[in-house]
Amino acid sequence: MADWKKRSKTEINKRVFDALNKNVDFDEVNPLGIPGSHLDSKVFYQDAPFLADAPFLSTLIHNPNHIGCHTLGKSESFFEGTQAIERELIGVCAENILNAPVGSCDGYVASGGTEANMQAIWIYRNYFMREHGAKPNEICIICSRDFHYSMSKAADVLGIRMVGVAVNDADRTLIKDDLKDAIAREKKEGVTCFIAVATMMTTMFGSVDNPMDYADALNAANVRFKLHVDGAYGGFIYPFTNPDNNLDFRNEVVNSVTLDAHKMVQAPYGTGIFVIRKGWMKYANTKDASYVEGEDYTLIGSRSGANAIAVWMILMTYGPFGWDEKMSILMKRTDRLVKQFKKLGVEFYRNQHANIVTFRAGFGSPALAKKYGLVPDNHHAPAWYKVVVMEHVTIERLIPLVEDLKMIGER
Ligand SMILES: Cc1ncc(COP(=O)(O)O)c(C=O)c1O
Repeated sequence: MADWKKRSKTEINKRVFDALNKNVDFDEVNPLGIPGSHLDSKVFYQDAPFLADAPFLSTLIHNPNHIGCHTLGKSESFFEGTQAIERELIGVCAENILNAPVGSCDGYVASGGTEANMQAIWIYRNYFMREHGAKPNEICIICSRDFHYSMSKAADVLGIRMVGVAVNDADRTLIKDDLKDAIAREKKEGVTCFIAVATMMTTMFGSVDNPMDYADALNAANVRFKLHVDGAYGGFIYPFTNPDNNLDFRNEVVNSVTLDAHKMVQAPYGTGIFVIRKGWMKYANTKDASYVEGEDYTLIGSRSGANAIAVWMILMTYGPFGWDEKMSILMKRTDRLVKQFKKLGVEFYRNQHANIVTFRAGFGSPALAKKYGLVPDNHHAPAWYKVVVMEHVTIERLIPLVEDLKMIGER
């Protein structure tokens, strides 16, 4: 298993600065063929004293380009020091968090959940086209109607079909008859291959799909499918709050997973994480990327190595037990909010392992949503508002919301 343990600030600093020393130093060796350099020295401090104790800012200034996928073998040798840290990070996500066997996954730090989801769908579309001769209009993404809109973006960009399956209004579970009907309808339209996407905490509700609902229905319909887990919201929460789940690599139906570090991990934006079983990245290989050492297997192309460093630093600062504790605190606060909602008779949905509570809009008001920055399901006609219990959402900050809801209820 990857080496995930709590490390001291000194250890973290040393590891990152050692890695930077293994990257090319544009001031020292003067590589002549790269369209990149350190950040502009007239604008960004290169030698401020605080940088000696600031590994992330130093990495930003060094500006390594992590183009390509570094779990596959060859990569740009100019940045091999920080690429090794990204490799370690992918190992932690795949093995320590998602229970993959050691060395069994590839992956990279994508620009976000949207790109990581699109990378998965791109890989499976190409697989069905190359290995099974499917045409784009014979391939269909299937997901619940609580899907994130990156699904429709992917279908649009990749020129394939997409179908959303209805969910039960109160508990957000897939309606199995609708799932069966959707598959049958798509088959009638000529679809032979499905890309199922199970969500590990949906954007609006924090609800969690059962991947076996898709697998059972698609197997029963005798069609080809591959399954991706969209854990952009839940990937760094749910595996800790519900460790005995079936949405990770212990389940052979799960082939790839998206996790987003720029949500619950509070990493900088640009830290979506894509993890897939070995043997699949080849379907996203762009051979024309011949000037890139090791070629490219990602949607994004050039990307900042500082992003991987930031996520690695956060996970190593906490370690697995510290992370678990952090999640427990968020769950405790969410439990407390749920108790208050029950007391007030506010109708809500909450998955017991999630830090999202979504209540029916009728129990609040647009003014209340504005006051507390609550996000509606639909800005034009809200039916639900959600509260996401993050680090800054303390019990002290939740109390006034509950009091206002009480006042609205009494009116
Ligand atoms: C479930 C889910 N998937 C994908 C995404 C897209 O993530 P990003 O905004 O990082 O592209 C989100 C964003 O909220 C999400 O909630």
